[in-house]
Amino acid sequence: MPASPFLLDVQTLRTRTRRHLEDSAAAPDMDAQRATILNLLNEAFATETLCALRYKHYHHHFSGSDTDAIALSFGERAREEQGHADMIAQRIVELNGAPGFSRDGLISWEQTDEVLSRSFVELVKEVMIVECITIDIYRDIIRYVSDRDRGTNLMIAGILAVEERHAQEMAAQLEALPA
Ligand SMILES: [Fe+2]
Ligand SMILES: [Fe+2]
Repeated sequence: MPASPFLLDVQTLRTRTRRHLEDSAAAPDMDAQRATILNLLNEAFATETLCALRYKHYHHHFSGSDTDAIALSFGERAREEQGHADMIAQRIVELNGAPGFSRDGLISWEQTDEVLSRSFVELVKEVMIVECITIDIYRDIIRYVSDRDRGTNLMIAGILAVEERHAQEMAAQLEALPA
């Protein structure tokens, strides 16, 4: 089964994050560091926004089916991911940046049809991969912000802990589903 537009987008956001980190090595002054942190935060903002939308979509699509318990948990996760997006946006504003992100190269905004052509198990597996990529993105961001921006570091560490819980919950939910 090929990757869905949602998974491809999150992979694109991880690639963008890594590119900001590579570019930052060439411009180590304070202004460049601040620009890098804002770029990283905006990629995280995009990731969280996409995840919130997708969890919400799956929540509504599967509610009332025999997978209702997982669908309900998707609703809760949509709220948590949206909360992360809001925290990140607020931090961007505190750093005198503007929350926002380019949709260039992102393809899943309009494409939600894969939910109709995939089994629930496939979707849950993919969401678990997305959570793992999100964890990668946050670990990369934490490595960069480190002592450069303690406030951002603390905030991202808190979000990362929630993403790690999400990945664990997804693994447990997957295990409980029939193969
Ligand atoms: Fe999140
Ligand atoms: Fe998550």
